[in-house]
Amino acid sequence: QTTHRLQFNVEWKNVSRLCSSKPLLTVNGQFPGPTIAVHEGDNVEVKVVNRVDSNTTIHWHGIKQFRTGWADGPAYITQCPIQGGKSYTYKFKVEGQRGTLLWHAHYGWQRASVYGAFIIYPRLPYPFSAPKAEIPIIFGEWWNGDVDTVEKEMMKYGAGPNLSDAYTINGFPGPLYPCSKKDTFIQTVEPGKTYLLRIINAALNDELFFSVANHTLTVVEVDAVYTKPFTTTAIMIAPGQTTNVLLTADQVPDSSGMFAMAARPYVTAIFPFDNTTTIGFLRYKQARKTGNTKLIPKDPSSLIPGNLPEMKDTEFVTAFANKLRSLGTPQYPCNVPKTFDKRVLTIVSLNLQDCPKNQICTGYVGKSFFASMNNQSFVRPSPSILESHYNKQITSDLSGFPEKPPKPFDYTGGNPFTQNMNTAFGSKFLVVPYGTNLELILQGTSFLNTENHPIHVHGHNFYIVGRGFGNFNHSKDPLNYNLVDPPERNTVAVPTGGWAAIRFKADNPGAWFIHCHLEEHTSWGLAMGFIVKNGPGPSQCLLPPPEDLPLC
Ligand code: C2O
Repeated sequence: QTTHRLQFNVEWKNVSRLCSSKPLLTVNGQFPGPTIAVHEGDNVEVKVVNRVDSNTTIHWHGIKQFRTGWADGPAYITQCPIQGGKSYTYKFKVEGQRGTLLWHAHYGWQRASVYGAFIIYPRLPYPFSAPKAEIPIIFGEWWNGDVDTVEKEMMKYGAGPNLSDAYTINGFPGPLYPCSKKDTFIQTVEPGKTYLLRIINAALNDELFFSVANHTLTVVEVDAVYTKPFTTTAIMIAPGQTTNVLLTADQVPDSSGMFAMAARPYVTAIFPFDNTTTIGFLRYKQARKTGNTKLIPKDPSSLIPGNLPEMKDTEFVTAFANKLRSLGTPQYPCNVPKTFDKRVLTIVSLNLQDCPKNQICTGYVGKSFFASMNNQSFVRPSPSILESHYNKQITSDLSGFPEKPPKPFDYTGGNPFTQNMNTAFGSKFLVVPYGTNLELILQGTSFLNTENHPIHVHGHNFYIVGRGFGNFNHSKDPLNYNLVDPPERNTVAVPTGGWAAIRFKADNPGAWFIHCHLEEHTSWGLAMGFIVKNGPGPSQCLLPPPEDLPLC
């Protein structure tokens, strides 16, 4: 059995993009960070050494961490942060999963530059014909300023959104941004061959469309779970999600041999979001030997692929989400719970909050922006939830996450000023016995909200059994659930002004984070804690904490 031992040094590194250079928080000086590649069944040990004077943690997004919650990484949920000058070794086994995931910092907004691919090669051959090669495509964002300051300003003034200065593909903004022609991702491909694109959205605050000019994409996997293959002109991918697609280089190139690939945000309001496009290229291998970037034309805006959806294309997003289905073969079964033991309805919402004392509120009519689940705006506790849980120090006050919204609410509209938009600040968790079949209905609102909320569950995958627009209807909507082959994921994009229903067996003992993967919304409190108690058998219990677990 293989054990991968790695060292991640969290350190500053000067990086130049968009006409200037700045110190960037990195792992081992790399941006994006190093790729982790393992096989299903391998053990992983990553020693994270914090060489900066701010706190940090690293999260292995989508790795189930069965019984090893101590290695999951979200600050104040499963561990106290790794302080400057200290280190912590994350030890876990990668089991029962295969495909593309990501790792990223899980402290403040450090994920802005501290992220990388996490690839799990399968034990068995792919359930599709083997590609010629694999191409990681990681989306991110670039800020000219210091991201820590951006987050602090946002919390202080309660205003948003906080625009990044560019979207990036594998760290490169591409030729549509200033001074960036040299910073363009270009991948050479051989005509006639098929490639596996491992697409990862590590952006902080933006759902993205992606397409490749003239080519179609065949989706074969999402969030490290195989899907029934389907062909599409583009994909939509939310932060925290991953999508594997097959692409065949079967087009006839012009003399440059270049086809653009592009990503732009999905948002339903134009103002005040950043509607720019990051571009990279596939370059068909041919006899000509010109330097790569010389082939990029002077006016590259003509290169934006015609098959890239427009920024507000909800119709595309809905159709795309409806095409996703679990593969559901005997080897890769779809284990969606056919019944549930507990149904929890939670609003995922932005809120306007009375201005907290000692704070300047310029957000909106003298109020401040926050976000919540069932009007609970999550505040990270100290020590971590997992430590309190392990030491049996969870009070009834903390364990009382409301299982339905506090007041009836019209989620599709209504006047926010006559309805209860205030939230309560606290750290409440949902506590369930081991093995509970849980149904979580995530009800979005249309209030102030122009984006889907990508809700991520730690420690578990789930099945998306239903989604729709408007208010969830308890008697009608469950009749239309897909309990045959719903997609299995770790992050679901809850439609703005709509809802998504997810089901899963809570069979991973420990304390877990459930939150919006738009970092801005997590900072505002769109999150909750979730505790799965130990099961009766010794193999159904959380393991003891490692000796080097950081203290608060
Ligand atoms: Cu990818 Cu809690 O995050």
